[in-house]
Amino acid sequence: MPAQIIDGKKIAEEIKREVKDQTKKLRETKGIIPGLAFILVGENPASQVYVRSKGKACDEMGFYSVTERRATEIAEKDLLAMIDEFNHDAKIHGILVQLPLPKHISEQKVIEAIDPRKDVDGFHPMNVGKLVIGEETLKPCTPAGVQELLLRSGNNPAGKHVVIVGRSNIVGKPVANILLQKQAGANAVVTIAHTGAKDLLPYTKSADILIAAIGKAGAVTGEMLKEGVVVIDVGINRVEDSSAKNGYRLVGDVHFESASKVAKALTPVPGGVGPMTIAMLMKNTLKAASG
Ligand code: GUN
Repeated sequence: MPAQIIDGKKIAEEIKREVKDQTKKLRETKGIIPGLAFILVGENPASQVYVRSKGKACDEMGFYSVTERRATEIAEKDLLAMIDEFNHDAKIHGILVQLPLPKHISEQKVIEAIDPRKDVDGFHPMNVGKLVIGEETLKPCTPAGVQELLLRSGNNPAGKHVVIVGRSNIVGKPVANILLQKQAGANAVVTIAHTGAKDLLPYTKSADILIAAIGKAGAVTGEMLKEGVVVIDVGINRVEDSSAKNGYRLVGDVHFESASKVAKALTPVPGGVGPMTIAMLMKNTLKAASG
């Protein structure tokens, strides 16, 4: 049987529709309009595209949003002062500082300057801690999106062996913490495999659900997988392609063609996890505004 292609674009649209409806209700019943502030430092082209797409999604949802753009040379203290202003701005419920930041600025200091209640990225140590101990909190968008993709595609992780390849603070570790919780829609047995492993094969082969967050094009191939596995590919890598109009195309961390021969279901790149990140950001902002 051909593998089910998990349509992240469609699922993200479904979530955004729900957020839009709930935003309307919040405005009508409590007079609250969710507000999201973006801070974009420097000229990183990918960051500019991301912030523009996130701003557009805010408009679609009926949110208020503001984008502050600053030159690469901005002093760390000026960036921290801007965050402090947004922390005290009643119209703003979420603050998103687009990463990466220039080298002279400490990303951790910036993350910790954001009021945890407005931390819609879920990166603040207070929110990370709450996630680890299973308290209700703002969860990081991409990891929360991975869970939604599994649930809404009919692949509940409960009781399954989930193997995550990659241990980053923004994907690998939070995905593990989300799926590990003794809660409905989670309750998985979780393994995190990473570059420290002598051989990835025994880990990837034993996965009922494999989540790839490695950052290397095509690193997981079909031969590394168990028949019937569900594969969520978080990777977005540019590979040269002279036939493409901009000279490159986007591929995931999973070798799609070989994986689709053994998997029960898998996400494409693009159109899998990518659109979910923005949808979950909208959901987090609505949650922050709802108090
Ligand atoms: N840069 C790449 N992904 C993200 C993200 O999810 N949030 C922020 N703030 N920056 C990013």
